[in-house]
Amino acid sequence: MSKVPKDDSSDTPLAVIVLAAGHGTRMQSELPKVLHQVAGLPMIDHVLDSVEAVSPAKVVVVIGPNMEDVGRVCRHHTIVVQEERLGTGHAVLQAKDELEGFVGNIAVIFGDTPLLTADTILLMKQTLDNDRKNILAVLGFKPKIPKGYGRIRCKIDGTIEAIVEELDANSEDLKTTLCNSGVMIFRAEVMFKELVNVKNQNVKGEYYLTDLVSLVRDSGEKVGLVVGLPDELQGINSRMDLANAESIMQNRLRVRAMAGGVTLIDPGTTWLSMDTIFGKDVTVGPNVFLGKSVEVGDRVEIKAFSHLEGVKLSNDVVIGPFARLRPGTVIDSGAKVGNFVEIKAAHIGRATKVSHLSYIGDSNVGQGVNIGAGTITCNYDGLTKHLTEIGDGAFIGSNSALVAPISVGENAIVGAGSVVTDDIEEDELSVTRAEQKHLKGGAKRWRGRRSTDKS
Ligand code: UD1
Ligand code: CA
Repeated sequence: MSKVPKDDSSDTPLAVIVLAAGHGTRMQSELPKVLHQVAGLPMIDHVLDSVEAVSPAKVVVVIGPNMEDVGRVCRHHTIVVQEERLGTGHAVLQAKDELEGFVGNIAVIFGDTPLLTADTILLMKQTLDNDRKNILAVLGFKPKIPKGYGRIRCKIDGTIEAIVEELDANSEDLKTTLCNSGVMIFRAEVMFKELVNVKNQNVKGEYYLTDLVSLVRDSGEKVGLVVGLPDELQGINSRMDLANAESIMQNRLRVRAMAGGVTLIDPGTTWLSMDTIFGKDVTVGPNVFLGKSVEVGDRVEIKAFSHLEGVKLSNDVVIGPFARLRPGTVIDSGAKVGNFVEIKAAHIGRATKVSHLSYIGDSNVGQGVNIGAGTITCNYDGLTKHLTEIGDGAFIGSNSALVAPISVGENAIVGAGSVVTDDIEEDELSVTRAEQKHLKGGAKRWRGRRSTDKS
């Protein structure tokens, strides 16, 4: 990540315009592009998180018509609608009224650049602050594959001359590997004044924000250049780009987890979310997926091939291998959830064991309970969900079905193979299976019948 130089002019106010009006045709999706998720969070949220981290005086988000969903995600900021999608320059102009009279710098950031960090935004700001002659600054980068990006045309002395979109580029431009990341920062007083001079004479017939570079240069002013890292600046235009961004973000999250004291046995196969919280000395086995809202206490072990989402695990819990914990699951300290167990909207008490092949849904399970292999809480009657309550110290024998609503009292025992439909009091033993019969010599007679049938 870029090193942030000393900020000796932090008092220059900063406003940020985030562009998110494009539908993202190349995503082939009904969902607006910026709502596609990276590490469990819409792209636009990542961008806004980085923007908010630099404490701007004002943030204006430009969205398209009928993008109420995007508006909801950005509701803490000023939102303007670009009725017609006429290009990035036109999109920025839509924020003009909202920033009337603003004195300071204005950064323009694209909603489809979710890997951008706050440090890089600050670095851009400082490029204007530290050299008063710069009217604007461009954040460039050298992606592995420059295809699709605007190219930065430089003079022999290294100063920027123009940004040329790929479709408008000449063969010389296409040789350059220095591309435009889309992030630009301007002196507020110049930006809107120059924007009205931008024309749409290009292959796409759009008003390009990037044309401000040549306009400013033509009037003899200076343009700053910051070169950032490809892993931070790739734009998301397609599902392939989205998958690449996911993998970069996952690596960041893995590094963060390990730096915080988590052992990832095979980091490349651990999937995390932006909001995953780990305690100390947690061990995560290979092929573990942690979806949104997972909080893990100290000394927890999550074994291979487990899938967790919306889950809170207290200290010293052991999960998996092959466990599925769904939203609303809370597991208290020292509890153990073993292989092929599914838990949903359930509270599992301290030191309770659900070791094998069970489904526990909509349940309150007390402390020190043993749930035998193959236990099912039958929580759904085809119309509604019902609650199962199991008291402290209860023992549920293997292959039992607890038909909710139902309660099993403290220290009660349910015999294996029972279908329990009535509440069980504390200390009771309840068993519902049919009585076992013993037919003396029956096995021999049965085999005898089989051999006569065959002959
Ligand atoms: C843009 C840049 C290109 C740069 C690349 C970096 C321009 C003209 N081109 O190209 O130089 O290399 O990003 O990723 O700026 N948007 C609107 N309204 C519009 C058009 C776009 O809000 O009318 C928004 C989009 O939602 C998106 C952003 O602006 O968030 C960029 O638009 P996009 O169409 O993705 O531009 P690129 O072709 O990627
Ligand atoms: Ca883009």
